[in-house]
Amino acid sequence: MAIRPILRIGDPRLREISQPVEVFDTPELHELVEDMFETMEAADGAGLAAPQIGVPRRVMIFGVEHNSRYPDVDTVPTTVLVNPEFTVLGEEAEGFWEGCLSVPGMRGYVERPGRIRYRGFDAFGNPVERDADGFHATVFQHEYDHLDGILYTDRLVDPKMFGFVEELAAAER
Ligand code: NI
Repeated sequence: MAIRPILRIGDPRLREISQPVEVFDTPELHELVEDMFETMEAADGAGLAAPQIGVPRRVMIFGVEHNSRYPDVDTVPTTVLVNPEFTVLGEEAEGFWEGCLSVPGMRGYVERPGRIRYRGFDAFGNPVERDADGFHATVFQHEYDHLDGILYTDRLVDPKMFGFVEELAAAER
């Protein structure tokens, strides 16, 4: 297990489209997932995608119990998803002030579909399928975007609704 350096916005590797995992239950895949959890927990993140640590594979993790970076949001089950896909279940959008470990210290307001169904596999190759709404749906879609080289800063509702956490808090956003 190891904490890996997290790439930051500006690094072109964050803009690549990641490739599917072809073989499950390998030592390499399990080590990748373990390293991702250790890296996410060390950074107090709600989620992490493999390309954020420079591995261009379609692997994401997320989970929120009590997160000091997101004190007001619902809990999200701790989840590993390999080769994920999703479908939108409803028309309604939901907005959150999102952050990203690759955009440290900042938040921006993003709206995304509020109800989705996602599916994928765990690291052993067992299928995972779940309906999600609220922050759970947003976290999934945020991490999924990383697999396609998209950052939340690409999806700001209004470029003015973006800034440093401390300044936004001072302005009571
Ligand atoms: Ni992110």
